[in-house]
Amino acid sequence: MTSANPKIISFIGADRGPWKIASSSAVRGEGLSFATHLDIVRGPSNEPYPEGAWTLQAVISNLRYTTRDEKSKLDKDSRALGQPEFDAGAFIPIRKSAAWWALTQDERRKIFEEDSKHIATSAKYLSYISRQLHHSRDLGGEFDFLTWFEFSAGHVDQFDELCYALRKTKEWEFVEREVEVKLVRNA
Ligand code: HEM
Repeated sequence: MTSANPKIISFIGADRGPWKIASSSAVRGEGLSFATHLDIVRGPSNEPYPEGAWTLQAVISNLRYTTRDEKSKLDKDSRALGQPEFDAGAFIPIRKSAAWWALTQDERRKIFEEDSKHIATSAKYLSYISRQLHHSRDLGGEFDFLTWFEFSAGHVDQFDELCYALRKTKEWEFVEREVEVKLVRNA
C-alpha cells in the first residue's frame, strides 16, 4: 500500500519481514487473515506484496492520559525497542467501542487509570517489556490503536500475564475488537 505521509507506519502481514508470525488469534471480534511474516514500513512504500497480504497503518502520537508524574517514572524505567535479547514480540491491534469515544477526556482517564490501573499495573513489567503505542483512529482504519511490544522469549509468560490482567479491567469492557499477533524475530 502506498502512502505519501512520512509519519505513517505500515504493519504488513505478508510473506516476508523481520518478524515471523508465531500465532494470530482473535481475542475479541474478527481476526486477521493468515500471514507468515510481519513487515514494518516507515513512510511511503511502493513495495508490492502478494495477494492476501494485509496492511494496517498508524502514527506515533502525543500522550492522552498520562500525568507528569507517571510519565517521569515511565521514562525512567522504559527501555528502547530493539534490544539484542528481544527475540519475541507482540502486535495487538485494538478497536474501542462507540460508547468509549462518546465519553469525555476526564471520564476516559478515570476508567483508564483510576478504575483500571493500566499504567500502575503495566509499569511493573517495564524492565523486560518495551513498547510503542500507535494511533490509527483518525486515519479511518479498522482499528483505533496498533500496539507493539518486544521482549525476550523467556518473558512470554509475563507478557501473557499482563494481557490477562488488562483484559479483566473496566477499560477492556470498551474493547470491541482485539487481535493478538505473537512474533518471533528472524534469526
Ligand atoms: C509494559 C507494558 C505497558 C505499559 C508500560 C503501558 C503503558 C501505557 C500508557 C502510559 C498508556 C497511555 C498513553 C497516553 O497517555 O495516551 C497506554 C495506552 C494504551 N495501552 Fe498500554 N501499556 C502497556 C501494555 C499494554 C498492553 C499489553 C496492551 C494490550 C494488550 C496495551 C494497550 C494499550 C492501549 C490500547 C492504549 C491506548 C488506550 C487509549 O488511548 O484509549 N498496553 N499504555
